Amino acid sequence: MCGIVGYVGYRDALGVVVDALRRMEYRGYDSAGVAILDGNGALAVERKAGRLANLEAELGEAGTERFAGSTGMGHTRWATHGAPTDRNAHPHRDISGKLAVVHNGIIENFAPLRRELEEAGVELLSDTDTEVAVHLVSRAYADGPTAGEFTASVHAVLQRLEGAFTLVFTHADHPGTIVAARRSTPLVVGVGEGEMFIASDVTAFIEHTREAVELGQNQAVVITAEGYRVTDFAGNTEGVHSRPFTIDWDLAAAEKGGHDYFMLKEIEEQPTAVADTLLGHFVIDEKGGRIVLDEQRLADQELREFDKVFVVACGSSYHSGLLAKYAIEHWTRVPVEVELASEFRYRDPVLDRSTLVVAISQSGETADTLEAVRHAKEQKARVLAICNTNGAQIPRESDAVIYTRTGPEIGVASTKAFLAQVAANYLVGLALAQARGTKYPDEVAREFAELESMPKLISRVLETAPQVRAIARELAHVPTVLFLGRHVGYPVALEGALKLKELAYLHAEGFAAGELKHGPIALIEQGLPVIIVMPSPKGRAVLHSKLLSNIREIQARGARTIVIAEEGDDTVRPFADDLIEIPAAPTLYQPLLSTVPLQIFAAEVAQALGYDVDKPRNLAKSVTVE
Ligand code: F6R
Repeated sequence: MCGIVGYVGYRDALGVVVDALRRMEYRGYDSAGVAILDGNGALAVERKAGRLANLEAELGEAGTERFAGSTGMGHTRWATHGAPTDRNAHPHRDISGKLAVVHNGIIENFAPLRRELEEAGVELLSDTDTEVAVHLVSRAYADGPTAGEFTASVHAVLQRLEGAFTLVFTHADHPGTIVAARRSTPLVVGVGEGEMFIASDVTAFIEHTREAVELGQNQAVVITAEGYRVTDFAGNTEGVHSRPFTIDWDLAAAEKGGHDYFMLKEIEEQPTAVADTLLGHFVIDEKGGRIVLDEQRLADQELREFDKVFVVACGSSYHSGLLAKYAIEHWTRVPVEVELASEFRYRDPVLDRSTLVVAISQSGETADTLEAVRHAKEQKARVLAICNTNGAQIPRESDAVIYTRTGPEIGVASTKAFLAQVAANYLVGLALAQARGTKYPDEVAREFAELESMPKLISRVLETAPQVRAIARELAHVPTVLFLGRHVGYPVALEGALKLKELAYLHAEGFAAGELKHGPIALIEQGLPVIIVMPSPKGRAVLHSKLLSNIREIQARGARTIVIAEEGDDTVRPFADDLIEIPAAPTLYQPLLSTVPLQIFAAEVAQALGYDVDKPRNLAKSVTVE
């Protein structure tokens, strides 16, 4: 949800900023813009609606001499207030043209602030909430107690803003200085030698430095080529703690590595993503071994005392949460409710000290999930975050965290993060079962061994790619695709449908196969493609036979059946127009395999239709607005 970057140092700032925007474009691609200070007191700004490529073309025409300087900032936008047009693109400038701002988030009290500015005779040139910030700082700089003081003027305004925001300011009278701040949206400092970076995400500067500092809630920072200074919004350093860390992955992880799209690379990285997520979570001891949630701050005693689990998440993360329910209830007998984070807190859910809330978020920034976490904490529930982004806001505000260790996921559609979340959810289930004694240690060890065997099997599923792609190309022009599953196959069907909707803009729906006869079967007509996720015949036989009947029912009504089934499941063959075979796995683990062909399918349909697989229309990777 908007990517922002700032640079102060000795390099050509424009090059650094544009490269950074390219890596952060997944955060939003409604418009892009840059502001570069040339050291002689001139601020050059260019901004353009649409993809970064549009801005680059504009910069190419303008000639880069105007942008020669070593202080600069940039923005890639996901529109909230104001349409994705040139005039709403960031950076926004004040009337003098000397001060510029870029912003991620929403300034919730922008309406009264805008009125105040208009009453004072300021003409606002955009429809954005952002623009109020630049005019307010400009006025604080022009007059009053902070007159002539850039940093103090920013601080004075920060204290008036409500909402979630990361703001970055640069001023032509202060070359070599950038002032930034954050509340509830991310901001990290990259610490180089003789140069400093600030960005929404470390991918922006990983090429130049792996040393970073994560800013806390309600913190501001001033960067110069020599260093950085973190304060609160009033400019105080006392009691203000930021977190230095070293990024443990490199540039290659943030690049496409020979693939046309990040998503295709990320699908292939899934065996490693799951293996890395499991790493170190089972330690051998005198009793044979035990699950450890190493980043955990919940004691075994607490794990024993929870009488209810809520899982909250959005989108694909929510689908991974649906799978958590099957595993946790099965292993622990503790009731689990899974809720869309955007619905959770408005419903007055029953929460107390004995409730464990598991908040699942790849980005760790999703506003709906963050608010659900806050609501749960207000009600005294304990919160465990499952997150892929070190130190993001959701894990920071939770009582405990398990990190999925997939490296950066850049394709907007979740793939490797989804599978890693499923693995992490199962770790939580096993940790609860172990602490509560609902599984014997040898049973926990056996389940963990099953989990550990999954990466190899996922690699084998990846070998089905040519077959899946061929089917996808054949079906690329159909208007509708339905997905069916039962038990754990149902969340997989939902996830398959979501992938197809978001990437290929097709009408796609996932159903619990048993529900078909209660309405959706009316949709079936001659040639309608239906993708069916078949349970293992060796698992719950009843599930298998019931789904087989469902396939017969839809085939009899003319549907084209594309069946994902376990290798050797010959009973399904006569009813499958296309059969995609995946390795055998126990029922609970099958989603780690059956999801993969659905990801490949959606990506291929999107490619066949000529869409950008990494950047589907209207979407952004981190959804920091409610
Ligand atoms: C779908 C997708 C989204 C995210 C959702 C939650 O492919 O990626 O549905 O899963 O926006 O995002 P996180 O996990 O970052 O909270």
